[in-house]
Amino acid sequence: MLYLTREDMQRVMSMEEAIGALESAFRLYSSGQAVVPLRTMVDVPKHNGQAIFMPALAGDALGIKIVSTYPDNPKAGKPVTPACMVMLDEKTGEVSCLMDGTYLTQLRTAAGAGAAMRALAAKGAVVGALIGLGGQSACQFEALCVAVPTLREIRVFDIDPQRRAAFAAERDGVNGLRVLPVASGDEAVEGADVVTTVTTSRKPVFSFASVKKGCHINAIGSYTPEMQELPPELVAGCDLIVLDTADGVLHESGDLLKPLAQGLLEGKKIDTELGHVLLGEAVGRTSPEQITLYKSTGSGVMDAVCASAIMQRARQAGVGVRIG
Ligand SMILES: NC(=O)c1ccc[n+]([C@@H]2O[C@H](COP(=O)([O-])OP(=O)(O)OC[C@H]3O[C@@H](n4cnc5c(N)ncnc54)[C@H](O)[C@@H]3O)[C@@H](O)[C@H]2O)c1
Repeated sequence: MLYLTREDMQRVMSMEEAIGALESAFRLYSSGQAVVPLRTMVDVPKHNGQAIFMPALAGDALGIKIVSTYPDNPKAGKPVTPACMVMLDEKTGEVSCLMDGTYLTQLRTAAGAGAAMRALAAKGAVVGALIGLGGQSACQFEALCVAVPTLREIRVFDIDPQRRAAFAAERDGVNGLRVLPVASGDEAVEGADVVTTVTTSRKPVFSFASVKKGCHINAIGSYTPEMQELPPELVAGCDLIVLDTADGVLHESGDLLKPLAQGLLEGKKIDTELGHVLLGEAVGRTSPEQITLYKSTGSGVMDAVCASAIMQRARQAGVGVRIG
């Protein structure tokens, strides 16, 4: 069995390669070649915790991600959401690899947005925006840079002013890219060609009036009916909505459930998956003027396929520690 740390994973898997892995994950899922049972949640009231088990089989990638939420952990100097990915040998069922599930989540989620930008963003995008500068943001920033290499400026916004200043200072000027901290979501989005939102917000983080024609938006944060990042007018008024998985988003995300409940999406097609676009079964962007939206809530298929690619590369490169 192989054990891989975050550093091991970073050594063997680039964002470019992760985007490729996610493209194949979406194709497998949308062509019915993946088995992704509903995630199982186990409450641990004695310790104010919850463990979440996310199994998936896609192609020969078989695994389960275990993510826990223990809000009291910081008191003991431990992370709130420890996570581990367990890969199994599809032929024997034996555990073949353990890897850092926190970094896997950051990488596969950002690479999913990267795949969406590659498929849906208008060509020649120069201005990007990133809203929400927490745990996911470093990988999301990298996905913007890798998937849209024409970007010259990325505006960054978080409700925490120190976070946005530090995030921009660390990245401004690297590879000639201007990284600008701004004071509101609207300031970030105005004039932007590609936008990623990755916050824990329960209300829209920018207004529809700020969105320019031709913009592509990745909405990553909202994964419960109460959470919301997008203005309902955008969801109603954009030209194309593409989901990572229709099952997940249409059951879980307030970004779609709230406008649906308000009757704003009647007659609008909202069940197209990125996999269908990549397979050529659904139409993507058809003009540079269109506003396109990718909404993600995440899926075990993204973990299993990305983790399998990381494991294979680590084996080839002799990276990681062998156990047993
Ligand atoms: N789609 C997926 O597959 C996927 C995967 C991982 C995480 N997520 C979700 O993405 C979100 C972000 O994850 P994280 O790990 O970075 O969380 P985090 O708590 O580390 O960071 C969230 C950041 O959002 C900022 N924020 C909150 N409200 C805001 C607002 N209105 N405007 C601007 N910034 C705001 C916070 O200040 C914080 O810096 C969470 O909701 C998480 O569940 C989705």
